[in-house]
Amino acid sequence: MKISAINGIFTLKHNPVYHYKINLPAMQNDAFIKTTSFKGSDNDDSFKAFKKWAEETDFLNNAESIIEKKGKVLGCGFEGMTIGISNNDKWVIKVIKRSNFSQQRIDKPEIFEIEDKLPDLNIGQMIAYVKIPFFENSSRLFYILRRQKGTSYGINNMPPQKLNKTNIDIHISSLKKMAELPYEAYKQLIRDIIKANDAGYIFDHYNPNNIMLDDENKRINFVDVDPPGNERVSYQFSDILYALLDGNFGLALLNSTQNEDAIAEAKKYSDIITEKFEKAVQEEMK
Ligand SMILES: Nc1ncnc2c1ncn2[C@@H]1O[C@H](COP(=O)(O)OP(=O)(O)O)[C@@H](O)[C@H]1O
Ligand SMILES: [Mg+2]
Repeated sequence: MKISAINGIFTLKHNPVYHYKINLPAMQNDAFIKTTSFKGSDNDDSFKAFKKWAEETDFLNNAESIIEKKGKVLGCGFEGMTIGISNNDKWVIKVIKRSNFSQQRIDKPEIFEIEDKLPDLNIGQMIAYVKIPFFENSSRLFYILRRQKGTSYGINNMPPQKLNKTNIDIHISSLKKMAELPYEAYKQLIRDIIKANDAGYIFDHYNPNNIMLDDENKRINFVDVDPPGNERVSYQFSDILYALLDGNFGLALLNSTQNEDAIAEAKKYSDIITEKFEKAVQEEMK
């Protein structure tokens, strides 16, 4: 990870708190707020609820056209494309570009469960995969994820990240919103991350495209987690802060020679974010 090389710019390097590994025991916190799931209620976004909804709405027969139309692409990253489903705020479709098609012939569409290790916490995790027949001899695969609220944070990290006015404005307004979130939102994020990590989910936190800022509920949500596997990954809090500072773009801006006013503004918000984050880490790690 290139993070360590650039940490210095954000003066993280000198602060040992950021180098705690987060594979620590789960935090026990009574204030833990359950997010979206209320099993059996209208907010139920479990696998069972999905299956029932899919049957009722003939989703399997419509899926192909939902994907093809790409009408509601929520975002595109290196790996996949995430697509919203009309009139549905519980789940999204994720198509992984490299494993989208297979030579396997199947006769009818089918839904398979992916175990949800954190039914009480929405981390945008996969709860199912679906296979549908594709032409005569192949099939198509996609995933069903619990839908996270909020809007994608910062500048999409897909290069090139042009230092133009539009991007600078998005960067600064992202930082501003993040800086204005209450301290509790940062603490919640850290608790969620620890929970996800303890459950074995693998995530990619240094990438701001995996952070969703939910201004309405004052939450910092994340997406793009892989289900628990054999791989163990170590994260550092600095990786997460890097994403919260929209690091890649932030560095490009800081290194530029023009844009003085923008740099001053970005620094102002970055300092607030860093301060809140640092305090939240210290508090949650006590
Ligand atoms: N569970 C989700 N709920 C809502 N939006 C999502 C969800 N998962 C992904 N997205 C949106 O789609 C974008 C790309 O998805 P992501 O899983 O990050 O793909 P990649 O692996 O290619 O980076 C994200 O940046 C986010 O805007
Ligand atoms: Mg991503």
